[in-house]
Amino acid sequence: MPKATCKILTDNTRDISDAAELIKSGHLVAFATETVYGLGADATNDHAVAAIFKAKGRPRFNPLIVHFADIAGIAQDVELDERARVLAETFWPGPLSLILPRRPDCRISLLVSAGLETLAVRIPDHKTARALITQSNLPIAAPSANRSNHVSPTCADHVAMGLGPEIAAVIDGGACSIGIESTVLDLSEETPAILRPGKITAEQLEPILGTLRQIETKSHEANAPHKSPGLLERHYAPDLPLRMNAEATRPEESLLGFGPNASKATLNLSPTGDLDEAAANLFAMIRTLDQGNFKGIAVMPVPENGLGCAINDRLRRAAHR
Ligand code: TXA
Ligand code: MG
Repeated sequence: MPKATCKILTDNTRDISDAAELIKSGHLVAFATETVYGLGADATNDHAVAAIFKAKGRPRFNPLIVHFADIAGIAQDVELDERARVLAETFWPGPLSLILPRRPDCRISLLVSAGLETLAVRIPDHKTARALITQSNLPIAAPSANRSNHVSPTCADHVAMGLGPEIAAVIDGGACSIGIESTVLDLSEETPAILRPGKITAEQLEPILGTLRQIETKSHEANAPHKSPGLLERHYAPDLPLRMNAEATRPEESLLGFGPNASKATLNLSPTGDLDEAAANLFAMIRTLDQGNFKGIAVMPVPENGLGCAINDRLRRAAHR
């Protein structure tokens, strides 16, 4: 296993202020959010943003989310229409990223948008993330703090093990409470669409927005710009093969259980069948099983409703070979 080699900071005032100085001088700092850990850099600095792509090994056509402390900051860089303002009031701070048109005077590096005329923005609901943004007084671009196509990190150790040598520091804000990345909602067209399911569900959005546009999530040209470039099928990939909707294991497989009828499970996402608990455990449990003495990971069925849609989305991508 690779060694953790970066500096691990706490979320006390002094460490946050050191981290903010690192961000201001163009370095990469990973930090906790309520969803997953982000790999942060000054979103207005081309060099800092380029360093994010390099550290992750992320293709340049896959755009980044920018994190702000408040709506006033966001309104400087994107066109906030009425729908966006209502969603902002309802769900921010929180796990919802909005895709909106860049303003002509947008301060954010063009690299962040990867050639698109839009920008993904959100206000995270985590005191570490908010403190870092406020102290640095900068919008912070932050993809999940994992190497491209690997499992997202939900604690500081995951980050340090995966990206340690590439980054200046990680701020340890504890385990992420939601554990699955934000819902990505495209508001750049007349009818909104969910590009990536997450904690904020279609059932919560449709009463506000009306019926959402359905998008094609199948694979596409891997090197072309795309409406939802992050929706590459192979993603969140553990080293071991993973299969879904398994009721029992095959030889040398571990079993990732869900719910009370999982006495044979190696690990259980939620013994009571609670989807919030399952989401919070998902990535850490996949990592543990991936490093265990098995040849594959079998995952029991997770219901396809509410947050279950986001869990199954991540499992489908992890299962894709
Ligand atoms: O919860 C989260 O969203 C975490 C934390 C750190 O905030 N961040 C995260 O970032 O998951 P990342 O880079 O791993 O995923 C961003 C997703 C990708 O699927 C990307 O393609 C999509 O958002 N995205 C970003 N900007 C976009 C844009 N302008 N148009 C369409 N999709 C965009
Ligand atoms: Mg990611």
